[in-house]
Amino acid sequence: MTPLKLGMVGGGQGAFIGGVHRMAARLDGHWTLIAGAFSSDPARAHASAKQLGVAPDRSYDSFEQMAAQEATRDDRIDAVSIVTPNHLHAPAAIAFLKAGIPVICDKPLTATEDQAIELAKVVRSTGTPFFLTHNYTGYPLIREAREMIARGDLGQIRVIQAEYAQDWLAEAIETDGQKQAAWRTDPAKSGAGGAIGDIGTHALNLINFVTGEAPSALSADLQSFVSGRKLDDNAHIMLRFDSGARGMIWVSQVAVGCENGLRIRVFGEKAGLEWAQEDPNRMKFSELGRPTRWLTRAGAGTGALATRIPAGHPEGYLEAFATLYTEIAQSLQGDQTAARLIPGLQDGLAGMTFITKCVRSTAKDGQWVNLGDGAL
Ligand SMILES: NC(=O)c1ccc[n+]([C@@H]2O[C@H](COP(=O)([O-])OP(=O)(O)OC[C@H]3O[C@@H](n4cnc5c(N)ncnc54)[C@H](O)[C@@H]3O)[C@@H](O)[C@H]2O)c1
Repeated sequence: MTPLKLGMVGGGQGAFIGGVHRMAARLDGHWTLIAGAFSSDPARAHASAKQLGVAPDRSYDSFEQMAAQEATRDDRIDAVSIVTPNHLHAPAAIAFLKAGIPVICDKPLTATEDQAIELAKVVRSTGTPFFLTHNYTGYPLIREAREMIARGDLGQIRVIQAEYAQDWLAEAIETDGQKQAAWRTDPAKSGAGGAIGDIGTHALNLINFVTGEAPSALSADLQSFVSGRKLDDNAHIMLRFDSGARGMIWVSQVAVGCENGLRIRVFGEKAGLEWAQEDPNRMKFSELGRPTRWLTRAGAGTGALATRIPAGHPEGYLEAFATLYTEIAQSLQGDQTAARLIPGLQDGLAGMTFITKCVRSTAKDGQWVNLGDGAL
């Protein structure tokens, strides 16, 4: 298969996730990066392009210029990855969608609900493919858990617990010029959610993906522990599901000692399972009245879901991310099976509703709010 042509907005020198997207796109050989508007600063954008081997005529001053010029080329990019701070997701995505160029956007969907509504309208009216990189869905054992729950291995689901704990915002590093912290703690760039938008949306998405259930109501307690910080850096959220299940999400960016502690536990009437992102090649599975088992990626008793190498050779974050890129490439080439599992607009809208409702519930001292009656 000839590699597809990838463009990128953001991800220039000094950025975090753009480099991860590039590694993920390269892993299975389905993509070649050939164009970009890599920074808000044109000089830095062009310096980044040079370093990445992107030709000068495909290195752009701005995403507006890039969308307009790429749209006119016979050898235009096949998709663009948007890896800017949140407030630019909508304007950048809309520019490319209107130009007929598929978009691979990082989470959360947008900074505001209004932006989300506008973006959703454009996705629907143009019909241009739109993907959202909730990359944790790409882990083989997460897919295994999803299949086990769908097959009924756990029985009726009772309790769903997810947590995503980090410690990198335990101090006010945003005031010391730490770039990633600065925009994440600025409501104008991040949106109404701090930790709940940045990592809570991943936890919510993982719950939806693994259990097939979406919460119908929540009660939230958002907190900013670091003095002067305008957005939450810790949150406890209780969840109710229409099925009768109950759940909870804890997100924190001030949990000292936690690095990228994303974990999900699901308990049904017959069995329970547990998976943690920092130990992603094994999953605990306990059937009532039987000894606990540890399932391993590609090991005995598991399916060959999105794995590349035999059991015992650790796979991790980059491989899971790469699975999304591979499936996006396959889906753009008409493979509907690959398209089935890739997060998209609906996941993004669910994340935005979650953020809005967490803020609303907290403002009412944790009052329960329904998730189904929002503008989205
Ligand atoms: N999927 C994940 O696990 C994950 C992890 C980290 C970040 N993210 C998301 O990725 C996005 C970027 O996060 P980050 O940590 O890489 O941020 P970052 O600050 O490290 O990088 C942002 C990049 O966007 C560029 N940029 C800003 N304005 C621009 C413009 N007008 N045109 C072009 N480029 C512009 C910056 O120059 C920089 O290169 C955020 O939306 C974040 O939520 C997702």
